[in-house]
Amino acid sequence: PQTFSIASIPGDGIGGEVVAAGLRVLDTIAKQSEGTVEFEVTEYPWSSEYYLKNGRYIPEGGLEELEKHDAIYFGAVGSADVPDHTSLWGLRLAITQPFDQWANIRPVTFLPGVESPLRKADDTELDWIVVRENSEGEYAGMGGRNLSGRGPGNEVALQTSLHTEKGCERIIRFAFDIARTRDVKKVSSVTKSNAQQYGMVLWDEVFVRVAQDYPDVETESVLVDAMSAKFVLYPEQLSVVVASNLHADILSDLGSALAGSLGLAASANLNPERRFPSMFEPVHGSAPDIAGQGISNPIGAISSAALMLDQFGLTAEADRVRRAIENATRAGILPRDLGGESNTVEMTEAIVAQLEAIHAEDLAAV
Ligand code: NAD
Ligand code: IPM
Ligand code: MN
Repeated sequence: PQTFSIASIPGDGIGGEVVAAGLRVLDTIAKQSEGTVEFEVTEYPWSSEYYLKNGRYIPEGGLEELEKHDAIYFGAVGSADVPDHTSLWGLRLAITQPFDQWANIRPVTFLPGVESPLRKADDTELDWIVVRENSEGEYAGMGGRNLSGRGPGNEVALQTSLHTEKGCERIIRFAFDIARTRDVKKVSSVTKSNAQQYGMVLWDEVFVRVAQDYPDVETESVLVDAMSAKFVLYPEQLSVVVASNLHADILSDLGSALAGSLGLAASANLNPERRFPSMFEPVHGSAPDIAGQGISNPIGAISSAALMLDQFGLTAEADRVRRAIENATRAGILPRDLGGESNTVEMTEAIVAQLEAIHAEDLAAV
């Protein structure tokens, strides 16, 4: 059999239940393959609780351990007991940065049976991908505090954005390559180059230059404030949206909310060179307000598992998972955040049941 080894990191809050949902779906895919595909899952208990006990999120040698796997499947991190910047730099960014997962793809999927706040005639015809620069920009981690040297009341803090020509070029090219594979071949580049005259202007210039290599792809350059309005008012004009780390972070939450809920959104942190494993995770966080209740929406995590299947080259299996999700929502089976009544396990089992039905149909068709 083809064996894929997966490091799972449930993390905090609802991370555990949504990761369990995704693994349940992968298990179903493996069973349906009749021994041709296997997933070997190793769980790492790295969480805020682990940090409070051990003083670090990732133990010594942890990254070397992760590196042995074909992929990382991540839940969420964030707890009231640890400052958010400590948990994020301690776990999530401590993986994406050293593993050079510079391309973050965040599809925005409008599902049948899910009411979007956009209320277009047919939202399900909308289909966007937010491509997020995932290694530099506003997340470069550069800066400092207490820079005035003048004591209490006079603190000065600096948070620097880093934009390199190579970093801009690789993510913009990545976005164009995706656009080429889509029905609507269009890339919208998002910056704030009117106010941010160094890094964002560099980005704009690189965008214009790279676009020349893709004459078959339509382009536009939009300021981030205007783009946030465009998401709401002219959603049919979007296909691939490429933006810096922070801008794409914000736009991807907006996109998922417009599709119905933050709980729907999937994400893949890719190291396109495949020198390091890539990491798959829902866009949402640990959702402390609903943690422990078993009512979170597992669709974002399950769709992220589908992106992992794509990365493994199991595209037919990935498509089956996406179809199973659509069939479940089309049938009106929805989690609480989408106005339905299904809890996490019920929603997951509904998707598994759809997978079984698709599998049975496929077998009957042979
Ligand atoms: P959040 O995504 O955790 O929650 C925002 C809102 O969306 C909450 O009301 C929550 O209940 C709801 N929600 C999110 N996912 C849901 C799901 N699957 N099903 C149903 N409802 C869902 O964002 P936040 O409240 O800003 O952050 C909470 C913590 O998570 C913070 O510590 C933050 O730093 C962290 N965080 C981590 C990640 C990550 O690990 N990748 C991402 C975002 C936020
Ligand atoms: C996300 C999250 C993280 C990010 C935070 C928690 C640092 O919001 O995955 O979208 O901004 O990268
Ligand atoms: Mn975010």
